[in-house]
Amino acid sequence: MSDALSERLKVVEGDITRLDVDAIVNAANTRLLGGGGVDGAIHRAAGPGLLAECRTLDGCPTGEARLTGGYDLPARHVIHTVGPVYRDGRHGEPELLRSCYVESLRLAAGAELETVAFPGISTGVYGYPKDEACDIAVTAVSEWLAAYDLPRVVTFCCYGAADAALYRERLGIDT
Ligand code: AR6
Repeated sequence: MSDALSERLKVVEGDITRLDVDAIVNAANTRLLGGGGVDGAIHRAAGPGLLAECRTLDGCPTGEARLTGGYDLPARHVIHTVGPVYRDGRHGEPELLRSCYVESLRLAAGAELETVAFPGISTGVYGYPKDEACDIAVTAVSEWLAAYDLPRVVTFCCYGAADAALYRERLGIDT
């Protein structure tokens, strides 16, 4: 990773709902009305205002993204994106997962957001193999950062030491 890129790409381990960034990304479903996993954690931490705003959006197709406020979260905004359910990798899953990252970054840049944190979209309930999902996430975000100035910093928020080690290894980060 180049020096310029390493200053703009971070890996942290922990709960994404605690991060003080311009936007955290939610691994949502097409209804955008909450659920389990990181989606449930984000809605619990944000409070009922988030669900009320989500109800006005009329859902979100797989591979797209929507922007809302952050309500009671430390983050100012939430970008809701809908990852693919993993079947065998031959049903458009890689393209859809990449699209989640690119469309989330496009929304962030359009709203002039400087700092954005992603969880591992589709790598929980939706069953995407973590190493393949990590490759797609790192490639999509690195290519975006090489082409655009915003967001300035993107954090991969890993839920557990094994996930953090995977991202750090992929990015060539020592610590
Ligand atoms: N902070 C950061 N990462 C987390 C957190 C957290 N608080 N909690 C879980 N993760 P998942 P999906 C990680 O299942 O696979 C929901 O019901 C988790 O370890 O939340 O995209 C939605 O409503 C995993 O690596 O999302 C959808 O119906 C990653 O977040 C469906 O699940 C994603 O796991 C979406 O499934």
